[in-house]
Amino acid sequence: MARRRQLYEGKAKVLFEGPEPGTLVQYFKDDATAGNGAKSGVITGKGVLNNRISEYLMLKLHEINIPTHFLRRLNMREQLIREVEIIPLEVVVRNVAAGSLAKRLGIPEGTRLPRTIIEYYYKNDALGDPMVSEEHIAAFDWAAPQDLDDMNTLALRTNDFLMGLFTAVGITLVDFKLEFGRIWEGEEMHIILADEISPDNCRLWDTKTNEKMDKDRFRRDLGRVEEAYQEVARRLGILPEAGNGDYKGPEAVQ
Ligand SMILES: Nc1ncnc2c1ncn2[C@@H]1O[C@H](COP(=O)(O)OP(=O)(O)OP(=O)(O)O)[C@@H](O)[C@H]1O
Ligand SMILES: [Mg+2]
Repeated sequence: MARRRQLYEGKAKVLFEGPEPGTLVQYFKDDATAGNGAKSGVITGKGVLNNRISEYLMLKLHEINIPTHFLRRLNMREQLIREVEIIPLEVVVRNVAAGSLAKRLGIPEGTRLPRTIIEYYYKNDALGDPMVSEEHIAAFDWAAPQDLDDMNTLALRTNDFLMGLFTAVGITLVDFKLEFGRIWEGEEMHIILADEISPDNCRLWDTKTNEKMDKDRFRRDLGRVEEAYQEVARRLGILPEAGNGDYKGPEAVQ
């Protein structure tokens, strides 16, 4: 097959031109970075697992009418997605204190928050993705108030759904990061979920032991990173028990 034209290489993924206009191919790498690139390494097999986990979660979200960019998985490391105009915000949803929130506010990691909290970060590597408020977002027109409203609603629905899904397999959804994008259908603009949902951008703790099953294992040098990602996939039922890497999940039905 002719190699596709590469459009962008990020820290964890590569985007290629898709087979039809308005589509892209998203390739998942094993590369991992943390602290805005301060630490980098490779988690063997991560790309395969994240491709599979993100496919699974986005298909589940599609089933409850949450619009996503996911079209279908193409192979072990690639998925076909709808091209969007990415809104330059990282939307973080938090259920339990961890990471920067715990540090900034002096709340012990693991404290259940009195309510779910949404935070926004401006996607800008040079600035280290600074936290911003709704005021900044409106003033600099990164998203219209109505767009932000839609993003909040989708983020909270996603949170409710994923919390239930993970709880059922003994995993606590501590927090996660979403990215959204705009697509146009005729005159109408829609906001849909983009990027990926995987242990790279979720905090997932074993409910019984509080053991971390996500990228914090890499960030904090806890070891057994790939095993943790595999365990998440296994609990979701998308990795055969004997998983030797050569697994083929259900075909996408979108
Ligand atoms: N459906 C989509 N259409 C267009 N761009 C997308 C889509 N989904 C995700 N992206 C963008 O593709 C890139 C994915 O690559 P990766 O996650 O490796 O980037 P990154 O290194 O984290 O950089 P960035 O700071 O841009 O997120 C991101 O820039 C993301 O915003
Ligand atoms: Mg990214």
